[in-house]
Amino acid sequence: MADLIDVRVVEDLAALSRAAAEEFARVAAEAVRARGRFAVALSGGSTPRGLHRLLATEYRDRIDWGATHVFWGDDRHVPPDHPESNFRMARETLLDAVPLPPGNVYRMATENPDAARAAADYEATLRQVFGLAPGELPRFDLLVMGIGEDGHTASLFPGSDALRERERLVVAPWVEKLGTFRITLTPPVLNEGANVGFLVSGEEKAGAVRTALEGARDPDRCPAQIVRPRSGSLLWLLDRAAASRLSSKSDR
Ligand code: 6PG
Repeated sequence: MADLIDVRVVEDLAALSRAAAEEFARVAAEAVRARGRFAVALSGGSTPRGLHRLLATEYRDRIDWGATHVFWGDDRHVPPDHPESNFRMARETLLDAVPLPPGNVYRMATENPDAARAAADYEATLRQVFGLAPGELPRFDLLVMGIGEDGHTASLFPGSDALRERERLVVAPWVEKLGTFRITLTPPVLNEGANVGFLVSGEEKAGAVRTALEGARDPDRCPAQIVRPRSGSLLWLLDRAAASRLSSKSDR
């Protein structure tokens, strides 16, 4: 269990994206040096856009893209060219601009009308790519995470049964508030990560950040709290606005 949560506060979204790109490049280099490959699960939403753009430009030559394998922590149940697709966002801001071998990109089959089937297929992909024995968990070198104003992370929303999933690697919960299915990695996979990094920007997230880091532990109410890597690093990268409601004495 991660006993120490590293919380770093930077000025603004631009600084957050740069700090995230530095971490991404550092973890990638360490993974390739140690294991010959770098397995990363990207986050969706909009916050990672700045990180992606830096990775596609200034940091492009610092990453061994040939040894990099790209996955997703979650995606929306829409076709891959849909405006809400996390895959599409990553393709537009990163994947089309870097020399990743096409076979190194593992997209969730979100176009499948049967979301549960898409989740099961992604789980099979993880088992195959990571060479997992039954009961074994994939250990991502890096998981990039975000948090919603309601405390959700990946597509683990408050009150979701997915928060109690202990066996499956990927599930497709119905999200009542959104009126849609999502496809998401489960808590055991998130907590098997070697390095987990939350990227959070903006005043609108300050309440969720305070609850996640300083509130009573209640992952059902604040799913981001469920992310405590069993034997990995946990970094919360915040800009000043997102950190604005943290108490200065908070021991993290
Ligand atoms: C998604 C994400 C989700 C995201 C948060 C924050 O599919 O939306 O994986 O967990 O990280 O909703 O999103 P923003 O970065 O857009 O605020």
